[in-house]
Amino acid sequence: MNILGIAGSLRQGSYNKAVMHAVKRLVPPGIEIDIFDLEGLPPFNQDLEHTPPARAAELKARVRAAEAVLFATPEYNYSVPGVLKNAIDWGSRPYGENSWLRKPAAIIGASPGRFGTARAQYHLRQILHGVNMYVMSRPEVMISDAAAEFDPEGNLVDGKTKDLVEKFIRSLIQWTLLFEEKRL
Ligand SMILES: Cc1cc2nc3c(=O)[nH]c(=O)nc-3n(C[C@H](O)[C@H](O)[C@H](O)COP(=O)(O)O)c2cc1C
Repeated sequence: MNILGIAGSLRQGSYNKAVMHAVKRLVPPGIEIDIFDLEGLPPFNQDLEHTPPARAAELKARVRAAEAVLFATPEYNYSVPGVLKNAIDWGSRPYGENSWLRKPAAIIGASPGRFGTARAQYHLRQILHGVNMYVMSRPEVMISDAAAEFDPEGNLVDGKTKDLVEKFIRSLIQWTLLFEEKRL
C-alpha cells in the first residue's frame, strides 16, 4: 500500500515533518509512506493549470499513484499554512482533473501550543470535503507541546502520543482497505 505523506511546512526543523518521518518509521512492512516535500512548489496560478510547472505535475502524479493521502498540518493563525492550501489547489485543477478525488485521507498535526492544531485540522477537513476526499474521522491526533514528544533522533518518545499515532496508522490502513474493497 502506497500512502502519500504531505507535511504542510517548509521549516527544516518542522514538527509536522518530524511527525511524518515518525509515521514512516512506524508503519508495518508492506506499507510505503511516500513523502512529498512542498519545497519548490510555486504559488498556484490558474493561467498555468493546463501546463503546470514540473513540481506541480509531479505532485499530481504522486497523488494519483497513491492509494491514500496523509496530511500533517501545522496551525497558522487558526488555519492551515498557505503552502498546504497551495498544494491542494494545484492538485485539484484543472476542472475535471482533480487528483484528490475520492482518495481516502487522514489528518494529523503537531504544534508547540496547547491546542495541538485542532483549529487547523477542522479547516483542513472542510477543504478536503471541497475536493471530495474521504477523510477518516477518528482517531483524531492533535499533538500539543510538540517539542516534548520527540527524542533527539526525531522518534516519538514512548507514551500516550506514540500509542495514539500507532492506533491512527492502523486505522488509516483499515480505512484505505475499505475503499479498495468497495472500489468506490
Ligand atoms: C504565521 C504563523 C502563525 C501561527 N499561528 C498559530 C496558531 O494559530 N496556533 C498554534 O498553535 N500555533 C501557531 N503558530 C505556531 C506554530 O504552531 C509553530 O510555528 C509550529 O512549529 C509550526 O509547525 P512546524 O513545526 O511543522 O513548522 C504559528 C506560527 C506561524 C509562523
